[in-house]
Amino acid sequence: MPSELPSDTHTPSRIGMIWAQTTEGVIGADGGMPWHVPEDLAHFKELTHGHPVIMGRRTWDSFPERFRPLPGRTNIVLSRNREAAEQMRQAGAVVVPGFQEALDAAIEADGLDLIWVIGGATLFDQALDVATLAEVTVIESTASGDTYAPALNDQWTRTAVDQHEGYRFERWERGGERA
Ligand SMILES: NC(=O)c1ccc[n+]([C@@H]2O[C@H](COP(=O)([O-])OP(=O)(O)OC[C@H]3O[C@@H](n4cnc5c(N)ncnc54)[C@H](OP(=O)(O)O)[C@@H]3O)[C@@H](O)[C@H]2O)c1
Repeated sequence: MPSELPSDTHTPSRIGMIWAQTTEGVIGADGGMPWHVPEDLAHFKELTHGHPVIMGRRTWDSFPERFRPLPGRTNIVLSRNREAAEQMRQAGAVVVPGFQEALDAAIEADGLDLIWVIGGATLFDQALDVATLAEVTVIESTASGDTYAPALNDQWTRTAVDQHEGYRFERWERGGERA
């Protein structure tokens, strides 16, 4: 058996999704997130650092300019808009025209162990059938919004919960053992 994957093997071992939501499933409002939980941002950074991250153009737009591209991660952004794509490339993003191209770019960027899909809702919808991991922060907030978390069907099992004051970190796995 070869000890390393051959270079033409384009199958990452794991695709994860990561998001924060209210208890009602809101993930976004007016192009942003309707809460401020620094511990969640630290958690996001800790988990995604060193791995390629895939996002939709509106999620890229939601980051303040000084925070993008997210450091220490290849930022892969999906867009069909040529002008926006050129601007994002100049700012340091890898811009691709579709989800499969995003996965290919992530693998190219050393994403053979773990690739993160970081939103928004349109990206989670596309990743749902190929992802096997979801890291979900549930924020105890009644904020309303216009963008919602994907529904995880019964193939998904919550495998870990870490409760904190006002929020909890949940890990969900497709085909995982119940915690
Ligand atoms: N709470 C969280 O964890 C979290 C995480 C991420 C985002 N958010 C929030 O979610 C909201 C944004 O999410 P969203 O669902 O509205 O937008 P989104 O998924 O971030 O971006 C949508 C855009 O991505 C591009 N796109 C998506 N699929 C594509 C495909 N297959 N091929 C080519 N381009 C594609 C298109 O860009 P073009 O229009 O340029 O063609 C599309 O308009 C914001 O409020 C943000 O703050 C929250």
